[in-house]
Amino acid sequence: MPATTFDIFRYQPDVSDQQYRQSFDLEHEEDLTVLDAILRLQNEQDGTLAVRYSCRSAICGSCACKTNGKTVLACMTQVEDVKKEFEAETISVDPIGNFRPLKDLIVDMDPFWDKFKSVKPYLIPDGPAPERERIVSKEAMEKVFRESACILCAACYSECNSLAADSEFVGPAALARGFRFAADERDGQRKQRAKLYTGQHGVWDCTRCMYCNERCPKGVNPRDAIEKLGGIAFQEGRGLKDPGARHAAAFLLSMRTGGKLNETALVPISQPLKAPFDLPFALKMLKHGKAPSPIPHRIKKLKEVQRLMMNVKETI
Ligand code: SF4
Ligand code: FES
Repeated sequence: MPATTFDIFRYQPDVSDQQYRQSFDLEHEEDLTVLDAILRLQNEQDGTLAVRYSCRSAICGSCACKTNGKTVLACMTQVEDVKKEFEAETISVDPIGNFRPLKDLIVDMDPFWDKFKSVKPYLIPDGPAPERERIVSKEAMEKVFRESACILCAACYSECNSLAADSEFVGPAALARGFRFAADERDGQRKQRAKLYTGQHGVWDCTRCMYCNERCPKGVNPRDAIEKLGGIAFQEGRGLKDPGARHAAAFLLSMRTGGKLNETALVPISQPLKAPFDLPFALKMLKHGKAPSPIPHRIKKLKEVQRLMMNVKETI
């Protein structure tokens, strides 16, 4: 019978302000999930150990935590798999990242729900309600099917680099849900949504670290949804209105004309009003060899890059 040591984050604010770690040893069957292990520890060794869960079937999204630093759903993660992956006999268990712990593995989810509500996560159709229902084709629903699978577990927020730097960032799951409605042909708020999602702390603040895609237990691919929202923003005329959109446009222009990124051109196009104030700093960087040449350059296989860009298919 396998034996595993669990090194668990503890915080019991009703007893003390101290956060500490506690080790538990457990003998168990081969097929035991991390959630079942925590529940056994709670039942057999320490009844004060707090964890949030409900369905135990990867549906309710409430049991997300970190095992050996990686965010998972505890109820769909096998203890033996974690040990194999990390070649370790000990599993560390922590609350999800980027949230305030309330008690042991339970975190304060209020900021998550506030952000979720801020994207208007519901259909807002135009015109009068039909007599029976709004029929949608299978093809139309396939465009938003992936994003509809989100179970709001916040694993993507736990891993989000942008959120770690800016706690106001709207975040992957909320933006993915925003895309789910912006791209729904029954919705009448596409333009308004494009404006709402591209404001401060929105779409353009994503750092593209891709961890949300990697860790999402439901294959929602929030980063892809954020990218598609960027596309909608351009279609809805936000291209010249936000610094983020201008930054993306400058990126594209640079790739089309030179075949590679001309970083020096990004600032004046993205923030034309601010650029003159950055000039002394830019000159200093150039002097110390820390900035790329401002003279545009072209790569040898420019035509190939341009052909590739032409082949990028419309996905929205
Ligand atoms: Fe969880 Fe994935 Fe939804 Fe993020 S997008 S909340 S990781 S299901
Ligand atoms: Fe519901 Fe894990 S307990 S998702």
